[in-house]
Amino acid sequence: MGKPKKLKTPGDPNAKSPAAKAQDDQVMGTNSSSIVSKRSVEKIYHPTEPPFFRYFVSKYQRRAPLINRGYWLRLRVIDVLVRNFLQRPPREGKKRKVVVNLGAGSDVLPWQCLTRYGEYCDGVKFVDVDFPDLMERKRGVVMGEEGLRGYLGVIKIPEGERVVVLREVVKGVEVEREVVKRGSVVLDSDRYAQVGVDLRDLKALEQAMGEVLGGEKWREECEFVFVAEVSITYMEREGADGVIGWASTVGDAEFVLLEQILPDGVGHPFARTMLGHFDKLNTQLKSVEVYPTVGEQHKRFEERGWGQVKVWTLWEAWGDETFLSGEERVGLDEIEEFDEWEEFALFGSHYCVVRARTVGERVPAPVVHSAVEIPAEVVQTQVDETTGTRGQRRFAAAMEISREGKQSEIVNVLGLGTRNRLQSCDVFTQGEASGLTFGEGGPSSRMCHSLVDLGESVLLVGGRGSPSNPLKDCWLYEKRTNTWSRTHDLPVPVYRPAVTTLGTSGMALLVNGRGKSSTFDGCLLFHAEKGWIECDSRGDTFAARYGGVIGVNNSNGITGFSGIYAGGLVDALFTKEVMSWELDISDIKKPAITFTRLQPSADANPDASSWLVARFGATCVQHGNEFVLLGGVTGDHLLGHNDEILAFSVAGTEYKITRRLTSDVSPRALYTGHSAVVTADGRIVITGGGATCFSMGTFWNKGVYSLRLPGTGTAGALPHWTHDKTVDIIPGERSLPIQTRPHNGNSSIGIKTIERVQLKTADDFAKIVRSGRPVVLEGLDLGSCVASWNLKYLAEKVGSERKVVVHEAATQVMDFNAKNFRYVTTGFGDLAQKIEQGGRLYLRALSQEKPTEKPSVLEDDFPSLAGDFVLPEQLALVRENLFSSVLRLSGPVNMWLHYDVMANVYCQIGGSKRLLLFPPSDVEHLSFAPGASSSSIDVFSSLESPELAQTHPHEAVLGPGEVLFLPPLWLHTATPTSDKSIAVNVFFRDLESNSYATGKDVYGNRDLAAYEKGRQDIGRIANSFQKLPAEVREFYLLRLADELRRKARG
Ligand SMILES: C[S@@+](CC[C@H](N)C(=O)[O-])C[C@H]1O[C@@H](n2cnc3c(N)ncnc32)[C@H](O)[C@@H]1O
Repeated sequence: MGKPKKLKTPGDPNAKSPAAKAQDDQVMGTNSSSIVSKRSVEKIYHPTEPPFFRYFVSKYQRRAPLINRGYWLRLRVIDVLVRNFLQRPPREGKKRKVVVNLGAGSDVLPWQCLTRYGEYCDGVKFVDVDFPDLMERKRGVVMGEEGLRGYLGVIKIPEGERVVVLREVVKGVEVEREVVKRGSVVLDSDRYAQVGVDLRDLKALEQAMGEVLGGEKWREECEFVFVAEVSITYMEREGADGVIGWASTVGDAEFVLLEQILPDGVGHPFARTMLGHFDKLNTQLKSVEVYPTVGEQHKRFEERGWGQVKVWTLWEAWGDETFLSGEERVGLDEIEEFDEWEEFALFGSHYCVVRARTVGERVPAPVVHSAVEIPAEVVQTQVDETTGTRGQRRFAAAMEISREGKQSEIVNVLGLGTRNRLQSCDVFTQGEASGLTFGEGGPSSRMCHSLVDLGESVLLVGGRGSPSNPLKDCWLYEKRTNTWSRTHDLPVPVYRPAVTTLGTSGMALLVNGRGKSSTFDGCLLFHAEKGWIECDSRGDTFAARYGGVIGVNNSNGITGFSGIYAGGLVDALFTKEVMSWELDISDIKKPAITFTRLQPSADANPDASSWLVARFGATCVQHGNEFVLLGGVTGDHLLGHNDEILAFSVAGTEYKITRRLTSDVSPRALYTGHSAVVTADGRIVITGGGATCFSMGTFWNKGVYSLRLPGTGTAGALPHWTHDKTVDIIPGERSLPIQTRPHNGNSSIGIKTIERVQLKTADDFAKIVRSGRPVVLEGLDLGSCVASWNLKYLAEKVGSERKVVVHEAATQVMDFNAKNFRYVTTGFGDLAQKIEQGGRLYLRALSQEKPTEKPSVLEDDFPSLAGDFVLPEQLALVRENLFSSVLRLSGPVNMWLHYDVMANVYCQIGGSKRLLLFPPSDVEHLSFAPGASSSSIDVFSSLESPELAQTHPHEAVLGPGEVLFLPPLWLHTATPTSDKSIAVNVFFRDLESNSYATGKDVYGNRDLAAYEKGRQDIGRIANSFQKLPAEVREFYLLRLADELRRKARG
């Protein structure tokens, strides 16, 4: 220990004003959210490692995939740079390596290094530095947790005023307490120290380093890596630069800085959202505007004594083998499904990583591609702002509808809304009220689908629910009748395909797209009668991709077309390939497509040009013989405002960027997740769009953007667009009643009608339960409820004011996974009234006392009704093993397909319902995600589809007084066949009680304990193969899956 320190010295945190102290507290608060995200990454991505972050995060919260992926990358980058430092041979004359984490917060870098790279940590000292208050709290956690303390050996805790060394045992560990005047060192041990200083006080830092590194010669004896992960950016610029400059004076050192940048200035929508977020927290980023680019950061370090400086954006780091291999990059998608590529690129481009060394050869400053010389022209642009959340929709697709005698309308179809995937469209008009409504039937909610105008109709292709749920159904919207009709399915489900219309032929071309577990590598021609016809692919070969752009520029009528195909994602990296294609459909049965790889024109910088043209998630519009690209993201840098819209043309095997098309309209749009339409009068109209800006909020475009490209149409004011209304699409093919399921080769069997029986004794029922088959029970006495319950009676008995939480659905088909409904709290009287009026409401009663903990029981939750409902003698088994009895009231809404783990008797009291049931063995055909007890398939409308051909549907229609016995794990869904339905369903246990999971199970659908444990085991197994090549991993995992299947089938 060094000399005792004086209290109340200048810069001592104890001497701060209350305002300055409050500001420091807010800065310290930034650690709390960072640590929760890191815990989420630790649990999901590193399940086999000791969970060190857990000690600092009492309640695990699973973060969204985008945040997990971003933090994973952030942690990985630091991990690799520190690992490289630890693993390289020590420099001559140096006795010790030291890892100093500046603004460490609750980060657990030392423990991770000690477990991951233990053999390189001999003699290494880790020093965490942060404000004194935070460090003292961290010390408390470390000392209280054997899982942290156990790594550190004998610990010294300096305290007090005088130097006294005490030895004592704290929680079983011998601790040496060196009691000194309160200094900066709050904990010390051979391997690890904690220093509590304000980093603006470099003297105190310097002194503490001397203390923890044992004396005067620490500079000569040690070599250092300083890590500052999103920490010194909260300091005033002078302070942060001071730290960087000071660190370069300690001798042989490296500095690893990770912090935000503003590559396209403060005006970029991501930057605005990010800065707004930190403003709101009152933790402004102080250096970001001074060092907004990788170039400025490079200079910053060089000017402060660092001889070798290398800077990456996090987005560049994602693609750099220094930080992760190709296999790892692809493998991450198997750990957590992911399709937020635009948002990930925006995030990664706004963070930089600097690795600076005092020793080593100079690395030239990074090149910024947007500096490429290209002529610029201003595009006439107009924004028609919308109010509130109107028009907020991303990853939708738009179409123009023109009808005789009416101005044209733009309809932005389906996509992702503020909370969930939408089952609706936004209709934009030029002032007139739109009469647009859709008849029954249409595509279900989805995103990342495509719309292509075929003339009289518009073709909707594929799309997805979650990233692992691509869709193959395709639809035609008939402009004349405003109806959606299902057309030929794709041969494989895909989202983000490249799709284009082919002139006026009424056909469309699709190239690649993201499939379920791989990328679709084919090309398909859509023909309204013949369906999707596979094209023979010729010419240059290329890896299948998705999210690229396609355009057509030439046609010879209806047998030959040509165009471009650029960009997209291959193996979790954007490609910079640009290709041309020629399609020959002179033989419609055997269309042939020939691809040619294009090169940038000889006068261009090849790298820069290809990254400007090869994009992901852009839209592409043909304009004369140019292609105009709008937005999207690109592989190596952030597309700046001046590069967002640019035109290129193709000549022979070369392409050339012809002009930048700039616009200075305000507010500026974010061209990701947007939909673009070229209207009949040649304008480009952009609707929707925006992005989730990492953990810092979502940016939504605030209106409709209209663009007139130079040389198109007449100059003058552009038409104004207003958001007229939002129209629902009623999903499904209503014209196909479920009873018509054919008994042909495609269908395994027709729908089985569930047997009806009259129970005499309780024994009869016990036999039925043992048989495990569903049965409709007729003629039971359920009490007076069957005669007396109607909505008015219920409201009177329960009380109009009694609050209940109900599902409020926008469409008939509720989807639990897509959450296309809201939970609203309403009075019972209102509920009854709204259902009477046809409201799409569904009450599934919850426990009044503890709705999130206890299952609902009619007697407790609705005592005034309980006497009306009786479980008859024959159902004694249910009474004896009762788990819950749930009141259900509904209007015209379908309960989604799901299973319950408890057995139950569904007692219809008023109205009627049709239920479709599938035996548990059908689960593999009905799209239940692992661990989910609900599926998004609307079986009522898709029983016809070939995907359900392997299933075994059972059907029952229940009227008042009838009871359905539903065995556990039978998959089921219900639709009302009257305008309202009243039911009580009673869940009961029929397995050994220790088979059920312990803990809360409000709905009776918590999976069995053995399944929950099994899933964790599977995660572990999958992880143990993670480092192997993809083919080897797949081989063994499939073998294991096969073994499990054999065990399952006995
Ligand atoms: C966003 S947190 C990051 C923590 C950690 N580096 C990580 O990435 O998980 C920022 C940290 O920097 C620390 N910090 C900011 N300014 C500081 C200063 N002047 N002195 C000491 N610590 C500071 C804060 O207390 C906080 O713990």
